[in-house]
Amino acid sequence: MTSPFESRGQDADELLRIEALTVDFVSRAATQRALFDVSIGLRRGEILGLIGESGAGKSLLGNAVMGLMPRNARITSGRVVLNGRPISILPAKELHRLRGKELAMIFQDPQTSLNPLLTIGNQLIETIRTHTTQSHKQARAQAIDLLAEVGIAEPTVRMDAYPHEFSGGQRQRIVIALALCVEPQVIIADEPTTALDVSVQAQILRLLKQLCATRHTAILLITHDMGVIAQAADRVGVLYAGRLVEFNAVDRILLSPQHPYTAALMASIPSIVRRPQRLSQIDGTMPRLGAQFTGCAFAPRCAFVSSACDSIPALLAGEGGGGGGVACWHPRSAHAETPPAASSSPSPLTHDALSNLDDEERAYLSSLAT
Ligand SMILES: Nc1ncnc2c1ncn2[C@@H]1O[C@H](COP(=O)(O)OP(=O)(O)OP(=O)(O)O)[C@@H](O)[C@H]1O
Ligand code: SF4
Ligand SMILES: [Mg+2]
Repeated sequence: MTSPFESRGQDADELLRIEALTVDFVSRAATQRALFDVSIGLRRGEILGLIGESGAGKSLLGNAVMGLMPRNARITSGRVVLNGRPISILPAKELHRLRGKELAMIFQDPQTSLNPLLTIGNQLIETIRTHTTQSHKQARAQAIDLLAEVGIAEPTVRMDAYPHEFSGGQRQRIVIALALCVEPQVIIADEPTTALDVSVQAQILRLLKQLCATRHTAILLITHDMGVIAQAADRVGVLYAGRLVEFNAVDRILLSPQHPYTAALMASIPSIVRRPQRLSQIDGTMPRLGAQFTGCAFAPRCAFVSSACDSIPALLAGEGGGGGGVACWHPRSAHAETPPAASSSPSPLTHDALSNLDDEERAYLSSLAT
């Protein structure tokens, strides 16, 4: 399968490249494919949003980059390349070293990353000293600087506090500070704001954007929330049932989604569109792991399905440049806004979800995307 990223070769700013990655879950009973030929690149200093429904394979992809997949998962083909170096073939020990130096991960629940029995100062100092040759005094000074950088007020005093003495948003800031202890080039942030309320979520997303700008860190931001994508991502990959179905700059994804699934995801953004009742939900469910398809995996839910969709659509570079791509035989740019007459099921899922937005709503989406 060709992807726009393979065809245009290595981007000069590209730090991390996932190349045609295929991952299977293997058991005695069966082998079930969970990621299909996924190719995507992450540039220095950008937030790449990865969006899709629950079970689409977002965390699996992030964990594959980190070398932290479940024991029963195997990379069957493809690879992960960091700074031109294939890392998915490294022995576990070397990958472990890389995780302490160039790659870091932030999870949804800050509690899982913090030790409730240690002050946050001790946790930061210990992490810094594990990965550097700094003295205790130097590590303490760096820890205080990091707390200030992530927006913890009175950092010197707060060094002596325990995790339970912070709010959820502050705890997530501390987890980000912990990730920064090793000055990673790449951060995989898996639903980092899902547990937070909307205003705190916006603060954390602003912090992540600030880190990209000041430290040139590349962040893979995994989420199921288009609102998060709209607020934080520079470019976006859309994952459906383990397949990358669309990839583009965030404004293109928000204002001109090409894949029917992306358009449907746009319909599920009550947090950024102020009249959610006008927008449809995605009809049907994502296929279960291991479901076999000879054609497009989205066909059972798609209002635009035709006989062409009986064969698998490759992710092809879109018209108009910009490095985007879509895996669909009938992308939005190629047809009128109404589903073809051949469509058998009157699914509520149409591209109209977006085209129905009025000027005010479009301007609002645009402002979020900049
Ligand atoms: N250890 C495992 N063994 C078998 N299947 C697994 C295992 N871990 C995950 N899966 C399956 O792999 C698929 C991808 O899971 P993944 O956790 O990556 O989804 P996700 O997109 O992150 O979803 P969510 O938004 O719910 O976090 C799912 O079908 C999931 O059930
Ligand atoms: S139009 Fe066809 S190829 Fe495109 S998403 Fe629908 S079923 Fe898949
Ligand atoms: Mg997940």
